[in-house]
Amino acid sequence: MTARVAGRVRSLRARLVITVLLLFTLACVAIGVATSVSLQHFLDDRQDREVEMSVERFEKSATGALRPPPPGDGTPDGVPSGGFFLGPQGPGSIGAVVRDGAATRAELIDQGGVRADIPAADLALLATVAPQDRPQDLELSGGEYRVDAVVGSDGLTYVLGRPNDDVADVTGRLLLIEVVVLGGAVVVAGVAATVLVRRELRPLERVAGVAGQVGTLPLDRGEVHLAARVPDPDPRTEVGQVGTALNRMLDNVEGALAARQDSETRLRRFVADASHELRTPLAAIRGYAELSRREPDPVPAGTAHALVRISSQAERMSTLVEDLLLLARLDAGRPLERTPVDLTRLVLDAVGDAHVAGPGHRWVPDLPDEPVTVDGDAGRLAQVMANLLANARTHTPQGTTVTVGLTTEPGGAATLTVTDSGPGIAPETLPRVFERFARGAASRTRAGNDTPSTGLGLAIVSAVVAAHHGTVSVDSVPGRTTFTVRLPATP
Ligand SMILES: Nc1ncnc2c1ncn2[C@@H]1O[C@H](COP(=O)(O)OP(=O)(O)OP(=O)(O)O)[C@@H](O)[C@H]1O
Ligand SMILES: [Mg+2]
Repeated sequence: MTARVAGRVRSLRARLVITVLLLFTLACVAIGVATSVSLQHFLDDRQDREVEMSVERFEKSATGALRPPPPGDGTPDGVPSGGFFLGPQGPGSIGAVVRDGAATRAELIDQGGVRADIPAADLALLATVAPQDRPQDLELSGGEYRVDAVVGSDGLTYVLGRPNDDVADVTGRLLLIEVVVLGGAVVVAGVAATVLVRRELRPLERVAGVAGQVGTLPLDRGEVHLAARVPDPDPRTEVGQVGTALNRMLDNVEGALAARQDSETRLRRFVADASHELRTPLAAIRGYAELSRREPDPVPAGTAHALVRISSQAERMSTLVEDLLLLARLDAGRPLERTPVDLTRLVLDAVGDAHVAGPGHRWVPDLPDEPVTVDGDAGRLAQVMANLLANARTHTPQGTTVTVGLTTEPGGAATLTVTDSGPGIAPETLPRVFERFARGAASRTRAGNDTPSTGLGLAIVSAVVAAHHGTVSVDSVPGRTTFTVRLPATP
């Protein structure tokens, strides 16, 4: 039962208190029942012995051995000084002499020690009592009696009874005392258990608090300070051991995170350095290829084609290196410029450029009347616009309509949307579009395009927007793809 009740309650504290209380109550009830039962037995035995002795005394006194002096020798109040017909019996005793199944003489000594009459119905009942091994219970008008009978030397049956009230009184009183004392003890135990359990579990709450604190820390990126520790765990207690283990684990995790951050920083620096170093030789390759193409002397057709390819691939590689350098710098948390940027102007310029680059598309700016301004890095935000519009141009067929929307919120935050009516992003690509080098299958092998995509465009959009403390999201179904960039008024 304990387990069932405790099982329905979730908190460990409540379960402990309930379990302790139930066990304590169980023990109290067991003690109470055992005490009552053994006392009842003891009193019953004593009552039986008394009745047996009394009936013998009665038989002896009635047959002469203890017969009282004749009447008239009594005290002024009429009570015979030598005793009753029943002989020297205690108050409450009842007795009868039975001849041939009928009571010939009967007597009752009431609680005050005075002789009293016995109702006729009781006389008839007393006459039915026969000698047996043990005394028996008999319900008379005055209550329940324990009665016994003996057959005297004169052949008459002597019946004597003693009231059971005394035994019932004692056991009843014991039961009352038990209920009051044990009930009080259960209440006191409940309060004590609640206080003690709460005190004992407090260190566990501290451990949970530290674990909860660490649980909310963003550990996946950047420098992480795991300052939270369980204060002074006592290794002699189980909870203290959990606290010590948690502290050790946090030390270990902190070390691992520091190592991770260190290696990430080194890798970023390496990518940034490598990109930076590649810029100069790439510029030289492009320059020399251009120079060679301008050479007035005729060159073989194959060589001329090779030079064009060298130029275009060097161009592509320069773009890639620039993108990598930008990403490495954004990752390193390089501070951005922070000046008021007129987003309306930015959108109009970007749409104008897109118009020139993709005359086959329909470009529709959807701008508010008032200029929209946010604090940020104008160059980077222009790149965000350019990348989104380049995608809308390169990943959609001719004739696609691209709408660029701009709205503001009361706080000054701006929302920029680029929506195209193209075929949409494949569902398997959609969850990864903002990852680095994530490209749709079609984009890898873009037919008829000299410069296959690299899959860094949206990664840069995401990194720049994040550096402005904004968010970017995408919704795409065939016929409607929308990129939404939300920028706070002040990063
Ligand atoms: N407007 C769009 N319509 C359809 N697919 C898109 C659109 N924008 C992005 N995609 C898909 O998302 C992929 C990732 O885009 P992202 O700009 O990061 O890379 P990319 O355009 O392939 O390469 P890069 O921009 O570096 O030249 C694209 O390859 C393309 O499959
Ligand atoms: Mg792109």
